[in-house]
Amino acid sequence: MIQIPGIIDPHVHVREPGATHKEDWDSATAAALAGGVTMLLAMPNTRPPVTDADTLQLALDSASARARCDYAQFLGAGADNAASAAPLAGRVAGLKMYLDQTYGPLRLDELHTWMEHFTHWPETAPIAVHAEGRTLAAVILVAMLHDHPLHVCHVATQEEILLIRAAKEKGFPITCEVTPHHLFLSTEDLPRLPGGRGEVRPRLARPQDVQALWDNLDVIDCFATDHAPHTLAEKYGPNPPPGFPGLETALPLYLTALAGGRLTLDDIITRCYTNPRRIFGLPEQPQTWVEIDPAARGEIRAADGYTRCAWTPFEGFPVQGKITRVVLRGQEVFKNGQVLAQPGTGRDIRSRSYLSQ
Ligand code: NCD
Ligand code: ZN
Ligand code: ZN
Ligand code: ZN
Repeated sequence: MIQIPGIIDPHVHVREPGATHKEDWDSATAAALAGGVTMLLAMPNTRPPVTDADTLQLALDSASARARCDYAQFLGAGADNAASAAPLAGRVAGLKMYLDQTYGPLRLDELHTWMEHFTHWPETAPIAVHAEGRTLAAVILVAMLHDHPLHVCHVATQEEILLIRAAKEKGFPITCEVTPHHLFLSTEDLPRLPGGRGEVRPRLARPQDVQALWDNLDVIDCFATDHAPHTLAEKYGPNPPPGFPGLETALPLYLTALAGGRLTLDDIITRCYTNPRRIFGLPEQPQTWVEIDPAARGEIRAADGYTRCAWTPFEGFPVQGKITRVVLRGQEVFKNGQVLAQPGTGRDIRSRSYLSQ
């Protein structure tokens, strides 16, 4: 048996409020615990999007009623909320800026709006960006001009990881995350993922891009699932939304890479726990750990999962390494395939009373 700290997933789409047929705080956090994730950071591209005090309260109320693991909510950067968002910085995971087209209404087109957000958002609070290719080069410049640290979501290509390497070598405080689907899937998997099933942003990249991510593992600060559930009906529909679920499959895939000698246990713990904690300033979860049987072999099957979207792009993948038990703040919350935590037992790690409830 191996014991590791509770996994922190800094990039999860919970879908509540607004799209609970895809997922909600109950099902997302059940999937999280089944995947060894004891703390998640929730993205703001919900309906309505989380961009002000009222919508933040709406999201936090749903979370407080239904979450089974600990969490914080991101605030979304909008066209008009730079000044009003800043005072909320202490209550959220960070500010999320969508700078390229993806799912949801939060894309920021205007460079002057980016500048406004970097001007107002407190320098100690995290800013995370969806920025692909040349957009990434542009936002790195804007962040440097404002001396604000930058966290880059879901890096997928060789040019992006090399750009981040170059910025780090200049001493700029830039960090990044990579998803399991960009590490373990490429354009060569697309024939297996027909219709809209293969749609995800950033898109699955060429095998040489995937290789570049592995070759530059030292530049990758975090692993993040970008768990982005959509139903199969939607994925096969006329305008398939981009996004893959990932909460339950991530750790088994990393453990399979561990068994195959591609990752060390330290590589996994650094990127799933130590670095997310440091980058986002997250508290320790006392008496919290994940127990693993590193020898157990199996196969990824969506049918075994808790996510409401009920599919996975990794269907049938052989895996080695099984999560046998998860303990969160002293409570057994997952054992032998069963989620035991009740809805409403998860806590907001940004709330002042996080550990005194
Ligand atoms: C995400 C979603 O569905 O919310 N989709 C995706 O393809 N990654 C949005 C995002 O993270 O860009
Ligand atoms: Zn202003
Ligand atoms: Zn994104
Ligand atoms: Zn996302």
